[in-house]
Amino acid sequence: MIGDLFSDFQRERKTEALAENAVLLRGFAVSEAPELIAALDRTLAASPLRHMNTPGGRRMSVAMSNCGSLGWVSDQSGYRYLRTDPLTNNPWPPIPLPFIRLAARAASTAGYVKFAPDACLINCYQPGARLSLHQDRNEHDFTAPIVSISLGLPAIFLFGGNTRGERPRRFRLESGDVAVWGGASRLAFHGVAPLADGDNALTGRRRINLTFRKAS
Ligand code: SIN
Ligand code: FE2
Repeated sequence: MIGDLFSDFQRERKTEALAENAVLLRGFAVSEAPELIAALDRTLAASPLRHMNTPGGRRMSVAMSNCGSLGWVSDQSGYRYLRTDPLTNNPWPPIPLPFIRLAARAASTAGYVKFAPDACLINCYQPGARLSLHQDRNEHDFTAPIVSISLGLPAIFLFGGNTRGERPRRFRLESGDVAVWGGASRLAFHGVAPLADGDNALTGRRRINLTFRKAS
């Protein structure tokens, strides 16, 4: 049955190529979105959103938090994964089950079976917030893909190549869209253009992005 659902998704041609081994699953998380936001609120009560600083000392415009056994942080010491939230000194909250289920289902739809993320970075964009081009390269295991769920206000996702010099292509990400990249694109440069203002029924004047990784 579940296999049929996956192929239905493919047949309906909601899968769009971002690059080699990188796809956009349009609307994949739409029906689960309210459940994800409710679980997110509980998660953020334990480890709140905060603006981290880049190693160079700049305050990031995107507010972030994490759930999972490892959480991504940035400060003057660099980018890395930590087991403990430096804001609360507690372990990061667990990844909620609906998150895990959806991330694994998206990964397998994109051809990556048995995706078992141990880190979920929570990104919160307000109007004007952006994420400059970067690679996700603080993980130990580059064989696992990245699964990225968009909720709330739409954004322009920039997806480039494996060198900074390659001009990124632009994709509009709507609430419920899920991007999955791995294999030849695992270290692709990507980013998010400054968020346009708007009002979303689910998230208000915000865009939420959940990025799942196998970090250890
Ligand atoms: C990220 O690269 O961590 C986030 C991408 C996004 O917000 O879509
Ligand atoms: Fe990233």
